[in-house]
Amino acid sequence: MSSLFRELLFNAIMKIAAGKRWPSDQPGDIFSPRALTDLCDYIPILRWVGYGGLEKGVISLHQKRDEFLQGLIDQTRKEVAEDGSCSTERRKTIIQKLLSLQEAEPEYYTDEIVKGIIQLMLSAGTHTTSQTMEWALSSLLNHPNVLQKARDELEKMQPGHLLNDSDLSKLPYLRCIINETLRLFPAAPTLVPHFSSEDCTIGGYEVPKGTTLLVNVWAIHRDPNVWEEPNKYKPERFEGMDEAIRLAGLTLGTLIQCFEWQRVGPEMVDLEENQEATLGKAKPLEASYKPRPSMIKTISQL
Ligand code: HEM
Repeated sequence: MSSLFRELLFNAIMKIAAGKRWPSDQPGDIFSPRALTDLCDYIPILRWVGYGGLEKGVISLHQKRDEFLQGLIDQTRKEVAEDGSCSTERRKTIIQKLLSLQEAEPEYYTDEIVKGIIQLMLSAGTHTTSQTMEWALSSLLNHPNVLQKARDELEKMQPGHLLNDSDLSKLPYLRCIINETLRLFPAAPTLVPHFSSEDCTIGGYEVPKGTTLLVNVWAIHRDPNVWEEPNKYKPERFEGMDEAIRLAGLTLGTLIQCFEWQRVGPEMVDLEENQEATLGKAKPLEASYKPRPSMIKTISQL
């Protein structure tokens, strides 16, 4: 499932940014979380020993990302120039919009800024969301009663109607499932590093100017002083709360609505975590699924 979720996210974000799918010959790993951090920033002595060529690797990845993003910008610029009728109002993708802004304010909206924005979307938005979906489905397979409850909620919709994002507000239990997934498996377990530009106090701790701060959200989300039975998977704890992530909700809801899901064997899905900047599964999820009879007609028309 992990590669399917990742593909979905790369396609979705590319569509928003550049109006097309992710190119099949382009590996997505140039935007992987591994490519975001340079360990040498945290343990400077590693720089002296060249820590397994890690820093060189980061520089080479940066060049590949830059080439890819510049290609997207150049291609969009060419398409806009060729389509003379494409007025600024009709430009729909984020790159098109940013290039319109560049025409108006070239000193600010340089290609570097445009590339930075698209790079952030691709590196911060893809693995976080796809890993959250994988954790959500893994937990559901280990808790068939929760999966059944989510299906019962979806069953209340018109037969044969395929879920769309305007339905999400009517699916409070699905929202609880996403929230519980984000609590137990926060995609950014230490947030992103924050750097204090001035002396400040955070949670009673004095933080001097120039400190890099990592917040252990993973531990806060399992703190028994904050949560009842913190290690227990219990989506009901979020009943009455509104917030949840739309694409994860829509994808998960559609998968539950359209397919019967089962673990591939009698063993529970392994929930071991990886050791990377974003919290993924150590072992990718494999699941068995078949279309639900009531949705076969709808699925076959897609
Ligand atoms: C399940 C999905 C996601 C989760 C759990 C998540 C979580 C987070 C967290 C915890 C942070 C750090 C906040 C902080 O420390 O101040 C962050 C930052 C960020 N996220 Fe997400 N994110 C998700 C999806 C996305 C998506 C889809 C995008 C964009 C397409 C995105 C773009 C960003 C950006 C640009 C930042 C940096 C913001 C800054 O510079 O302050 N994220 N995200």
